[in-house]
Amino acid sequence: MIVCLCHGVSERAVDSCVDAGARSVEEVGLMSGAGMGCGACHCQIKERLACGGCPAVELLEARKSTQSVGDTPLSAV
Ligand code: FES
Repeated sequence: MIVCLCHGVSERAVDSCVDAGARSVEEVGLMSGAGMGCGACHCQIKERLACGGCPAVELLEARKSTQSVGDTPLSAV
């Protein structure tokens, strides 16, 4: 899904910036161009920043810590 229409930046690209260390809308903008136009996407960028990047990684980490014997193997997720 596209987060920044002005610069055609996807959620994945914003998450990659966050994973690479971006901690503000400005840093995401410098790394990807997102948010450097009209500013309408700033809320979405802030949401991605609050998530800490790719939510799938967090879900896998949470699942690893709570998984018990008999659960579906992580490789099947
Ligand atoms: S939609 Fe991102 S700067 Fe305009």
